[in-house]
Amino acid sequence: MDHARLLSELSDFLRIPSISTLPAHDADCRRAAEWVATDLRRLGCRDVQFLGSDTHPVVWGVGPDVPGAPTLLLYGHYDVQPPDPINEWTTPPFEPTVRDGRLYARGAADDKGQVFCLLRAIEAAGRPRVNYRFLIEGEEEFGSKTLFDVLRREPERTKVDVALVADMSYLAPGWPAVYTTLRGMCYVEITVRTAKSDLHSGEFGGAAPNAHEELVRLLSRLKTPDGKIHVPGLYGAVKPPSKAERAAWKKLPFREKDFLKLRVQAKALTGRKDRPVLERLWALPTFEIHGILGGFTGVGAKTVIPAEATAKVSLRLVPNQKMRTVERQLAAAVKRLTPKYVTSTVRFLHGADPAQIRIDHPAFKLLDRAFHEVVGRGTVPARAGGSIPVVPALGANGAPVILTGIGLPDDRLHAPDEKLDLKQLWDGIEVFKRFGELLGEANA
Ligand code: BES
Ligand code: MN
Ligand code: MN
Repeated sequence: MDHARLLSELSDFLRIPSISTLPAHDADCRRAAEWVATDLRRLGCRDVQFLGSDTHPVVWGVGPDVPGAPTLLLYGHYDVQPPDPINEWTTPPFEPTVRDGRLYARGAADDKGQVFCLLRAIEAAGRPRVNYRFLIEGEEEFGSKTLFDVLRREPERTKVDVALVADMSYLAPGWPAVYTTLRGMCYVEITVRTAKSDLHSGEFGGAAPNAHEELVRLLSRLKTPDGKIHVPGLYGAVKPPSKAERAAWKKLPFREKDFLKLRVQAKALTGRKDRPVLERLWALPTFEIHGILGGFTGVGAKTVIPAEATAKVSLRLVPNQKMRTVERQLAAAVKRLTPKYVTSTVRFLHGADPAQIRIDHPAFKLLDRAFHEVVGRGTVPARAGGSIPVVPALGANGAPVILTGIGLPDDRLHAPDEKLDLKQLWDGIEVFKRFGELLGEANA
């Protein structure tokens, strides 16, 4: 492998600031889609199309025909999360830089680096052994609306033998994983309004309602310090992990103390102290406040009583919960906690059902073998705390959906100094190349 060439090609991809949630970057998202399309054509795809959107198109590709061989759908995303806080990056997020065998850039691990890994695995294999299909989307970080629409209109695109999603990580260095669940999500904005307009805090303070005060009171009632979420009905559908699963988790390379010290890097962990950390991360719903807007946040001081305040919040959902049900439950809880003199609204931004994946299809054994041959250890089953909205839809036609990836737990996804270890990339190219060969042989 010509590492220098590969690094320069991946860097070109990473330099495009394809931030899907910010409209100012629409043209960049389009450019990233074009980068993917050009690469697919170079790999010999005969049919490359942009589907569903001009600015954030789903890139569809059909690889060269391999008669009699199985069909493998590869999924990934070319969009990335915003890079802020920008000052906390050691080098700028869209100027990919190698330090110590690691490539630093927004999207290095999530997910451009992994998309690149799949594409170069196909290139490295030379003649393809399976019928490749590609769905590389540009709105994963924003709810995957376009891809959902495409798959609703054209469900035949997922009529494949196997789907592979490389957007995940190893459990620890040297420990590749396959994932059996993803959490779902319900992302909303809660807005409270307390008066017609802002008021002088001296003239009115002491007698007029304050929107920020009402909002923080409401938020603090929705989740208490013991980690319990006070949305009536929320825990009703939550299925606790089985005894066998709990026992298996104890054997994973995961230590709560190291998780706090090396990864969270805070003074303490929070949440449901009565549950093991992995259960809190993988098998329980969450409620997080992402940001609070409104009032005066400029430099200096302004004495005002804000009339409106908005919080961006999300709930993560676990198997058996339904996004639409949770959306209703949350809206009802907000209504119940709102005093009569306050107006509250809940605006839904995006969401996803949780995913549950059976890993008994023979293709999982082949991936296990490929990892074994290349990195010396097979795949360990685990759950994931994150979400990939479209995963249940990818399996809607019955194809097994393999959730795996080449990231490492310390890649700092969505955060400053996101990185990808180059060793993971070089190994990953060999792994997915080998997986393609094994899958091709399986049906020969
Ligand atoms: N690749 C992640 C999902 C992920 C992260 C899976 C960590 C497992 C472990 C994906 O790009 C992601 O960040 N998804 C969003 C989806 C949301 C915006 C609907 C997420 O989980 O926040
Ligand atoms: Mn991702
Ligand atoms: Mn992500």
